[in-house]
Amino acid sequence: MVAAKISSAVLSYTPPDPPIKEFTPARDRAFFADPTKKSLLSQASAVEEITPTIGTELKGIQLSKLTDEQKDDLALLVAERGVVFLRDQDITLDQQHELASYYGVQDKDPNQQDPKHVTIIGRGGNIRQHDHYGAEYHGDHSFELNPPSYTLLRMVKTPPSGGDTIFTSQTALFDKLSPTFQKTFESLSAIHSSERGYLASINGGGTPHRAPIATAHPLVRTHPVTRLKSLNYNPTFIERIEELNGQESNYILAFLREHLLNADDLTARWKWTPGAVAFWDNRIVVHKAIPGGYDVTLREGKRTAVHGERPFFDPENSESLTERRERLEKEEGTNGVAHKDKEAALNN
Ligand code: SIN
Repeated sequence: MVAAKISSAVLSYTPPDPPIKEFTPARDRAFFADPTKKSLLSQASAVEEITPTIGTELKGIQLSKLTDEQKDDLALLVAERGVVFLRDQDITLDQQHELASYYGVQDKDPNQQDPKHVTIIGRGGNIRQHDHYGAEYHGDHSFELNPPSYTLLRMVKTPPSGGDTIFTSQTALFDKLSPTFQKTFESLSAIHSSERGYLASINGGGTPHRAPIATAHPLVRTHPVTRLKSLNYNPTFIERIEELNGQESNYILAFLREHLLNADDLTARWKWTPGAVAFWDNRIVVHKAIPGGYDVTLREGKRTAVHGERPFFDPENSESLTERRERLEKEEGTNGVAHKDKEAALNN
């Protein structure tokens, strides 16, 4: 792997593009979905949860044939389940780009060659080596002012084994914190930086389009559609916690990394096959491609993503998973009692 050092190549390099300005994206397509998602789910031959917390596999659906109504339902399913998986997709690269455009303005990775997609390849190397870049959990380029929301990765070719991807729910990670840590983290923001990737790219012969940036985002964010709170943690791009002293920040980041790495119960691990797709909500999920142990030339995928909103935290209008479950149980109980009272009145 290429070290992230300030080499002469870095010093003499000038990126061609200006920084991307912040903007307000169009209304999230999940807002237009039917809450039961029936136009999509009724067409599936099977809808299987990968784990109770995250990940649903849809069978019998071709992304290339979705109606707009089904696309909206799919967005809601992705927002609710974190990631949706499908196999044996016949969608072409142009159709994939068109589908991404339905969900928003296409995001462009700083190192992306083709404006329409990122080519994802196999990852090797010694992941335990110092400065091995890319083997860590991450949300895709969270340093942007408008980091990606809906992100679709379609594998074109895959090795017979190895190269799986693990997805972890940041909504559940937040929910598993103690109320004291939840409250504390709600008051913090983190600096997400593209500097390390920028240096590694140039030192490896890459030509990043844009100069590195560092952006402060809330450490806990509200999902605009589900209104659930999730952690907005990213071990690859977060440099420090803005409000804390250096050692305090290191301590909190070390805790968050351990919290994430211990979350086996909050993950979905996906074994790829050619034509398989993972469609995730980058706002509430971190992922990592497991490197090593296979022939990296046998793995290739095409990733498309769209810009989401600038991450925000709305304490007045969001809740944790547990708070939501408890509120719904209470409402159901109250409704149940009201229903029984009404029945009793009618019978008397
Ligand atoms: C990514 O980091 O977006 C790609 C994930 C993968 O290679 O599985």
